[in-house]
Order: sequence, then structure tokens, then C-alpha cells
Amino acid sequence: MSRRRACNLVLLLGLGSAACTQAVPDKVLVAHRGASAYAPEHTAAAYRLALEQGADFVEQDLQLTRDGALVCLHDATLERTTDVEEVFPDRFREIGGKRRWPVVDFDLEEVRRLDAGAWFSEEFAGQRVPTFEEAVRLVRGRAGLFPELKQPEEYRRRGHDLESTLKEALEEAGLWEPGADPRTPVYLQSFEAESLRRLRRDLDCRLKLFLLLESGDQQWSDPDALRAVAEFADGIGPDKTMLEKWPQLTAAAPALGLEIIPYTFSAARLDPRFAGLTAEMSHYLFELGVQGLFTDNPDLFPEGR
Ligand code: G3P
Ligand code: CA
Repeated sequence: MSRRRACNLVLLLGLGSAACTQAVPDKVLVAHRGASAYAPEHTAAAYRLALEQGADFVEQDLQLTRDGALVCLHDATLERTTDVEEVFPDRFREIGGKRRWPVVDFDLEEVRRLDAGAWFSEEFAGQRVPTFEEAVRLVRGRAGLFPELKQPEEYRRRGHDLESTLKEALEEAGLWEPGADPRTPVYLQSFEAESLRRLRRDLDCRLKLFLLLESGDQQWSDPDALRAVAEFADGIGPDKTMLEKWPQLTAAAPALGLEIIPYTFSAARLDPRFAGLTAEMSHYLFELGVQGLFTDNPDLFPEGR
């Protein structure tokens, strides 16, 4: 029985321990864009597979459409993961000398027409870009949600308020308060510190907040830089390579009360020092002591340690 199933069974039986009432195990498996090694990222198929493979959380990268709908999409533009070039051939912008189809130029009704699965494999043709609301419906009660606010500052420049829109969506779903649905914990993440500050300070967000750290950002080699993070966040999400390059980061975070959930563990990008992805994930979880990790391969997450 997986850790999540065991936790849910305890909840069903009304035997919830302190750990299980939040349904968050000690070592947290976050399905990165769903089970994205096996199904097209951010589709219902990838989210369902992540649940079947025992994910504790399913990640949603959030973007906004022109009419202000929250959709689950990693890129700010649609051409990599949908057939937008065929459906809307004239709706591109030249960005950096390339043709791009920004999602914020399209209304939700238009995004819904796009195929988000065929690029991955014909088997997934007909998959759609999910709205955040659809993702919540699919995941809730079976795992946690781990939405990432993508480029909030850029949206603000365009007159959109990503933080407030997410707050409204979570309030609508009854998930804005921590523990509101014990089977559906919600953690929020962003690469932009100001967005998390705004959530905590201006929007009174009490959900766990994680600041994502970009590989190569030299400021994180100084553990003192984390002190400021602890004032508005509950954890960090570093690129996994940073933890070994700067071991002082791994040591400093827990002392400041910050959890560490690094990204991204993928069989397709295995660190050659390890015999397999399970061994690589075990090293981070049990030797470096991180609280969880983002992986494209939830089925390879180490069990029973
Ligand atoms: O959010 C953690 C990880 O997903 C960050 O990388 O680019 O896949 O969103 P990215
Ligand atoms: Ca992400």
C-alpha cells in the first residue's frame, strides 16, 4: 500500500494522527506537471496517471488567458505543447525573432479548442489544456495541489492580478484555508519572491509558500540570503544541483524553519552518478534530508524508507 493510500485509509477510519490529518507524509512526492514522463504535461491524462502512481501532490503551472481564466500550462506561449500553429496560424507575435503564440492573447474558449496531447503521442490526441478549476476537480480528495504562479510580474504589467485570481479560485473551491480539506493540502510556489510576499502580506495567505530558486543564481551560495526568505515563505524549491554545489544551503534552510523540495528528478535526465532514478531520489531524500521532490516519474519514487 502506498504512503498516500495508507494515509487516506487512516482518514477514512477517523484515526487521523497529527501527520495524517493533513495527509502529508514525511517525504513528499510531487508529480511534476503530472506524470509528465509518460503522458503530455499538464493534461488530465498526466494528472490521472500521477494519482494512479501515488503522487502526494500534483503540480499545476498557472498562466492566464486574455479573459482572465487560470489555465495549467508551463510555457507562457502555446506552440510547444499544443497545435495552436495549425488552429490559429495568423495569431502569432514575433518574439526574439521567432513566431510565438502567447496564451494571454487567447480567450479561454479558444484555448479549449487546442489539442494538448498529440505533440506527445497520437495516443493522447484530444487532450485539452485544463483550467485550474478542472485540475482541482480531478485531483481533490486524492492528492494535494501545488500550483506555481508563473511570471506574475509580467501579468501585472499587462493588467492581470495572478495572486488575487488564484486566491479567488481557491476560495471558490473551499481550499484557501490550510486544512480546509484534509485530503487536499495546498502549497503555492513561485520563482518571484514579490509574488509570495504579496500573497502572505497583502492577501493574508496562510497556505505553505515555497520560493523556487533558479540554478546558477549566485545569491543562494550565501546562506544568509535565506534569512529574508524565511520572513515570507515556508520553504524553498531549489534546482537539485544547487544542493550539492552549495551544501550550506541544505544546512541553513532547516535552521530557519524552511522546508526543501527540489526540482526536477527525471529518468530522462538521470544524474550519471546513480544507477537509476530511484537511487538518485533516495540520495536527496534520505542522505541530504530534503522533505520532498518534484519528479516526472512518480512511479520511481522510493517507497518504504
Ligand atoms: O516548480 C518546480 C519546477 O517545476 C520548476 O521548474 O520550469 O518546470 O516550472 P519548471
Ligand atoms: Ca513548475
